[in-house]
Amino acid sequence: MHTVTRIAELRATLKQWRRQGLAVALVPTMGNLHAGHIALVNAARQRADKVVVSIFVNPTQFGAGEDYAAYPRTEQQDSDKLNRAQADLLFLPAVAEIYPEDAQVSVTVGGLADDYCGGSRPGHFNGVATVVCKLFNMVQPDLAFFGEKDFQQLAIIRRMVVDLNFPVQICAVPIVREPDGLAMSSRNGYLTAEERAIAPKLYQSLCRVRDAILAGQTDFHALTEQQMECLRVAGFLPDYLAVSRIEDLRQASEDDRNLVILAAAKLGRTRLIDNLCFSR
Ligand code: PAJ
Repeated sequence: MHTVTRIAELRATLKQWRRQGLAVALVPTMGNLHAGHIALVNAARQRADKVVVSIFVNPTQFGAGEDYAAYPRTEQQDSDKLNRAQADLLFLPAVAEIYPEDAQVSVTVGGLADDYCGGSRPGHFNGVATVVCKLFNMVQPDLAFFGEKDFQQLAIIRRMVVDLNFPVQICAVPIVREPDGLAMSSRNGYLTAEERAIAPKLYQSLCRVRDAILAGQTDFHALTEQQMECLRVAGFLPDYLAVSRIEDLRQASEDDRNLVILAAAKLGRTRLIDNLCFSR
């Protein structure tokens, strides 16, 4: 696997590939790679001739007081993992390569960013959309792979490629979980041993809400309130737990069939997110 840090080098390699008529996939990440990220690389290898992985801890998607400085940076281990996963090109730019100091133009997301993570992290999805837009312009991939772990992010990226006419196919990859159900995340490394033991309860709460709905319960509000209380008792500080429509992430009503339960909760200093899709 070849590693490049400059946009010019990236473009030179991509130009050759495109001349050969090869299909290119992009897997954008912030590094500290785990099996969830590698699942994206594997899915990309199945669908494209060349796989480009970007590792960039994007400053514009972190709010004041969030973990931008502390975010784990593990370039050597990441590079080894990507080699083993047979990625073709690693793009590892510095912040100054991506953001001119006097930048004036960025991407703004509408109502799709109002609730859930967007509600709790103002500006977060503008930062995500801006950097993904820039990566799409730099790489010009035929396909781009995103995890369902970040369900609202995936919905926003899908919307962005429609609204801004990117000629890229967005491919979704299911959530990869630890054996006890905890969704894999670079932030799981922040958890203490005690918190790590409690963490799977977030997924268990999602499963309980799903099972109750499949058993015929229709008071979604009561169900989510009940599970938020369970999480509080277990030691979480829940941010949101909601039953939503998969299509547009709006609050689900009794008649909706394709549902996603979305949740975020703090456990100590770690913010965990998870979700569960199902149909009834
Ligand atoms: P990051 O958190 O590194 O995640 C990179 C990609 O891996 C995202 O598409 C995310 O949904 C996916 N992913 C993470 N954990 C996963 C899991 N357990 N199972 C399946 N997929 C998983 O998301 C970002 O970075 C950034 O916001 C980014 C899109 C790179 C823009 O900066």
